[in-house]
Amino acid sequence: MSEVKKAGVLGAGMMGAEIALCFAMTGIEVVIKDITMDLAKRGMERAEKALERLVKKGQFDDSNKKKTLLLMHATDNYGLFSDVDFVIEAVVEDLKIKKDAFAEVDKICKPECLFATNTSSLRVTALATAVSEHRRGKFLGTHFFSPVSIMRLVEVIPGLETTEESVRKAIEVCRTIGKVPIRVKDVAGFAVNRLLHAMWIEAERCVEEGVATPEDIDTGCRLGLGHPIGPFALMDIVTNNLTLDIQEILHKVYGPRFMPRPILRQKVDAGHLGRRTGRGWYDYRNKK
Ligand SMILES: NC(=O)c1ccc[n+]([C@@H]2O[C@H](COP(=O)([O-])OP(=O)(O)OC[C@H]3O[C@@H](n4cnc5c(N)ncnc54)[C@H](O)[C@@H]3O)[C@@H](O)[C@H]2O)c1
Repeated sequence: MSEVKKAGVLGAGMMGAEIALCFAMTGIEVVIKDITMDLAKRGMERAEKALERLVKKGQFDDSNKKKTLLLMHATDNYGLFSDVDFVIEAVVEDLKIKKDAFAEVDKICKPECLFATNTSSLRVTALATAVSEHRRGKFLGTHFFSPVSIMRLVEVIPGLETTEESVRKAIEVCRTIGKVPIRVKDVAGFAVNRLLHAMWIEAERCVEEGVATPEDIDTGCRLGLGHPIGPFALMDIVTNNLTLDIQEILHKVYGPRFMPRPILRQKVDAGHLGRRTGRGWYDYRNKK
């Protein structure tokens, strides 16, 4: 059984809501905080919808649904974090906002509580400076993948001061909630996003060169490589603007091999951001 009896999630958005759900589905009480009660409740609704999808697919027992949802508590303040054993931060990808949130929750949480960030592009070591010195050994990254209720991978990323004991505990927590953790260094893009974006950039280059259409490349990756979804269909879910933001960061750190392709910039300039805007690499306007 996990050493975590109660967890706290900061940010009730796309990631935070489903991260919280994974704790509740394991029978662990979880607090989910956003800026306002309305946003926190929206996160609860998001979690409930994800749970319903799992029930429909036969991946979660309907009779446990109510009990699971009762383990989740929405809040707009840090009060309920005083007795949590594990905090996961999933607020917007902004260094200052994340550091402010960590500094606030650091004042409330027990000294032994572990802190984790779900950042996809910021340095774990830099974020750790937001908390008091005694907690820096208990601070690390846990990078989940979307949709969290389905994707099993978590990259566990120790910062410079993270203790081995904290890494061990975080790995155990991930396993307890049904995830498969891998240990990765605190570098830009960690491991999986580096691989993903390298492939996406090459896929875009193929389209620019007229090698194949996005549709055919997606078919190739699904049927030839065994990927469950093709690169262009996945970019349309992630959104092209987020993809561009991440590639700008990777480009700065790793140089020309991650230079965003002109065709991606054009998509963003045109507002063809993906499913959310009705158009991306594919046209969804008549499919709604
Ligand atoms: N979307 C993805 O596929 C993905 C994958 C892996 C990691 N991430 C990372 O997860 C984090 C969250 O991403 P998301 O897609 O869920 O974003 P999102 O915009 O859907 O949700 C972020 C939430 O944080 C809330 N928030 C902002 N400041 C807050 C504060 N001080 N306290 C509490 N809540 C606050 C916002 O109101 C919002 O509801 C980001 O760091 C992102 O880089 C995202």
